[in-house]
Amino acid sequence: MQGSTNVLVFETAEQVAHAAAERFVEHAHDAISDHELFSVALAGGNTPRRMYELLASADFRSRIDWSRVHFFFGDERCVPADHPDRNYRLANETLISHLAVPPVNVHPIKGDGDPTTNAQLYENELRSFFLGLQWPRLDCVLLGLGADGHTASLFPHTRALKEQKAWVVANWVEKLGSFRITLTAPAINRAARIIFLVTGEDKAAALAAVLNGRPDPERFPAQLIQPESGSLVWLVDCRAAFQLATQ
Ligand code: 6PG
Repeated sequence: MQGSTNVLVFETAEQVAHAAAERFVEHAHDAISDHELFSVALAGGNTPRRMYELLASADFRSRIDWSRVHFFFGDERCVPADHPDRNYRLANETLISHLAVPPVNVHPIKGDGDPTTNAQLYENELRSFFLGLQWPRLDCVLLGLGADGHTASLFPHTRALKEQKAWVVANWVEKLGSFRITLTAPAINRAARIIFLVTGEDKAAALAAVLNGRPDPERFPAQLIQPESGSLVWLVDCRAAFQLATQ
């Protein structure tokens, strides 16, 4: 059974960030009420920065019991721990370091060293957290969309797109000339709540192709994100959405 998909268009990127932060709070409350913790995989890239800043602000920070929150990551670049390109670094600087989160609740992906080993280490950590499950059951996964239609580090025409068994893989991305560590599509699709944040005119063509184009996940990997039973919502601004109306 497939979950539900929703596309919400906002005037500005600020409104997208605010809507995402409000949903994060709502999903955290629901998860903590239901099973006393909230497991969330954070998105990388720049789009979620404002959402993370809002969550760390006085208006939002006090609304969640952060001791119940477990932070995971949808993907990570294969760079040294202190490299500015690390997704962990953005999340830590804008959000995690401002919160009373026990260090054991933060599950970064190792970026330096052997990518395949690091992917296995991260999968092992997920399997320890979701002990005994065939797939991880993250309460929420945040995702961005690349202008080429990628999400997490599921890039067009890469091997990770076909992975149906592993939860995490090291994915060689030719156009970047590097490996990326990423949750696989089946792992993401077991999440209870999936939220895409997409803003800016440079994403308009990819968004229209992913949402309205013919199925072509090799070219537009974000099309692989179809929750098994959870919900999927696209929070987009009107600049990213302007081609949707004309399709
Ligand atoms: C990453 C992200 C990636 C990102 C998109 C959009 O590691 O870069 O996981 O999937 O979400 O590339 O990036 P922007 O938000 O910077 O446009």
